[in-house]
Amino acid sequence: MTLVPSYIKNLKNYVPGKSIDSVKNELGLKKIYKLASNENPNGPSKKALNAIKNSLDSIHRYPDPSGLELRNKLAQKFDLKIDNIVLGSGSEGIMSTIMRTFLNKGDEIITAKNSFIGFKVLANASGKKIHWVPMKNHKYDLKHMLKFVNKNTKIIYIANPDNPMGTFVKQLEFEKFYSKIPKRVLIIFDEAYFEYSKDLKNYPDSMNYRYDNIITLRTFSKIYGLAGLRVGYGFAHSDLIGNIMKVKEPFTPSLLGINAAIAALDDDAFLKESVNKNKIELKTLKNELDKMGIKNIPSSTNFITSMWPSTKAAKRINDLLLKKGVIVRHLAPFGWPKYVRFSIGNKDENKALISNLENVIKEV
Ligand SMILES: Cc1ncc(COP(=O)(O)O)c(C=O)c1O
Repeated sequence: MTLVPSYIKNLKNYVPGKSIDSVKNELGLKKIYKLASNENPNGPSKKALNAIKNSLDSIHRYPDPSGLELRNKLAQKFDLKIDNIVLGSGSEGIMSTIMRTFLNKGDEIITAKNSFIGFKVLANASGKKIHWVPMKNHKYDLKHMLKFVNKNTKIIYIANPDNPMGTFVKQLEFEKFYSKIPKRVLIIFDEAYFEYSKDLKNYPDSMNYRYDNIITLRTFSKIYGLAGLRVGYGFAHSDLIGNIMKVKEPFTPSLLGINAAIAALDDDAFLKESVNKNKIELKTLKNELDKMGIKNIPSSTNFITSMWPSTKAAKRINDLLLKKGVIVRHLAPFGWPKYVRFSIGNKDENKALISNLENVIKEV
């Protein structure tokens, strides 16, 4: 069809993880454990739930188009001005707006190969030249990425920590890299898992880099447990934010999303508890994987990626777990066909994953 540009026509459809309902229906199972999308297994905070309930009577109204109240709350929490903050339909919504705001004809993008699939989808749809630079030891190879910077470079994307590897770029590594990047290049720091990693040694909180060409993206989808409501936020220089605001869809995020996020920001106890529970379950799962001899990549997030001897073995472990009602993520669509990612569940979910793994591993 000539209506569609070739760079869109040639795109592959995004293959999402299986939903709980589809697995229930397909396999006729009652109990399903969904450990495939790195969500918070504890659900959202009660405060967020109450805010949603209290907002239901208002959903015939549009939300405030610039999300002033939530931006104000974020400004207070992170000691910023409101002009430094943008909201979107998840951090992916903001990524999409960034592409439309900054990319011009001939501009190029640099990022790691087989990093976050959401960015890959958006970057490919931009029709721009993209340098997918292979990772080294399952980490962004910043030194190698530098070699692709040229006069056309416009955007560099770094997921920190990365999904699906769970690794992060260290502070000094980034600072060295940044010192060599021209100021006309926009660096997107995607910190979707920030709250899980922020206290790790050498983890660079990009809020310490308030330079004119860095944008930090964070989300209410992970630790805050609000993935279904699609609320993300970005911090940057007011000039960048001002231009992004001109391009952004006016009434995003939704009213329920905004009100839930405002309330969620008031529940530090929930956040702390979620981080602590994740730490415990991650450690348990890692120990058990090690005991079973399943190779894995040490993780700084709420998931852990396992490595299998072949694509066949990775697919088989995914499928065998699925048959038991445990949904995990075979990483073939991400470009890692021998890898399977396990999101960290609550205690029961983690137990179910471990015991089912013990059962099916003999069959791989
Ligand atoms: C690295 C990374 N960035 C962004 C997102 C998406 O976040 P959101 O739900 O805010 O669009 C994810 C979700 O899996 C992610 O892993």
